[in-house]
Amino acid sequence: MPRIAYVNGRYVAHRDASVHIEDRGYQFADGVYEVCEVARGFIVDMPRHLDRLERSLKELSMAWPVSRRVLMLIMREVVRRNRVSTGLVYLQVTRGVASRDFVFPQGVHPSLVVTARKVDPGFQARRAETGIKVVTVPETRWDRVDIKTVGLLPNVLAKQKAKEAGCQEAWFVDIEGKVKEGGSSNAWIVTRDGLLVTRPADRGILRGITRTTLFDVAGKLGLKVEERYFSVEEAKAAREAFISSATTIAMPVVEIDGTTVANGQPGSITLSLREAFFDVAEKSPA
Ligand code: PDD
Repeated sequence: MPRIAYVNGRYVAHRDASVHIEDRGYQFADGVYEVCEVARGFIVDMPRHLDRLERSLKELSMAWPVSRRVLMLIMREVVRRNRVSTGLVYLQVTRGVASRDFVFPQGVHPSLVVTARKVDPGFQARRAETGIKVVTVPETRWDRVDIKTVGLLPNVLAKQKAKEAGCQEAWFVDIEGKVKEGGSSNAWIVTRDGLLVTRPADRGILRGITRTTLFDVAGKLGLKVEERYFSVEEAKAAREAFISSATTIAMPVVEIDGTTVANGQPGSITLSLREAFFDVAEKSPA
């Protein structure tokens, strides 16, 4: 079955889907995006993702390409046309197509692309059974990483470095040695007392939707969450460590820069958060 993409008002074959060479996303990374998990035929936490999209657009003075309601219909349609029941839906909005000039173009309509793809349901589950390894890298990004822009080159370089080190994620670390977040995920630890710790999301990291929903999951499981800075050293000595994102949910971290976390096995608190996640998350029919 051929994959279908939505590009600026049309559903087209994925292999033929293209945007103009002067799209500002292509030339300036002048665009924002969202990735939602599709699980058991539902789009997970869609309202929260669209709220964050609204914020990203507002921060960059960009208009909605279509109304929120229409965007929801398009996302559902792309999921449906690609018959995704486990996977993800990706949407990207850029400032549009205009002759190359740094300042905002006038009278240009934002570009919208929506794609969806299947993911092997067992892949993340198998990873969660062994846990993942992370490397730390110095923070090299701009200070507006709270906006979910497509300007991800430092993340690309960090994740490539992780791969070359035999790891699955890279953690950005600030100049004080405190963990910020992953290349495409938020970072968490569990203390010896069973407290969940993650960096505050006011500025300097992306406020992950999975992170937000995990606060709700933790509440339901009677676990406490503390938003505070934690160092690489504290993470290495923690009872558990994990990452969160729409594509990984809560994913155990068993090694940081070659140091084994606890006994090197996925932590039980992380696995219980992972297990309870889908029941707590908001499920929009796809
Ligand atoms: N990335 N931090 C960064 C830098 C991210 O890129 C992501 C998500 C997150 C977690 O956010 P959420 O829980 O809303 O997925 C945190 C997506 C999955 C990506 O770029 O593929």
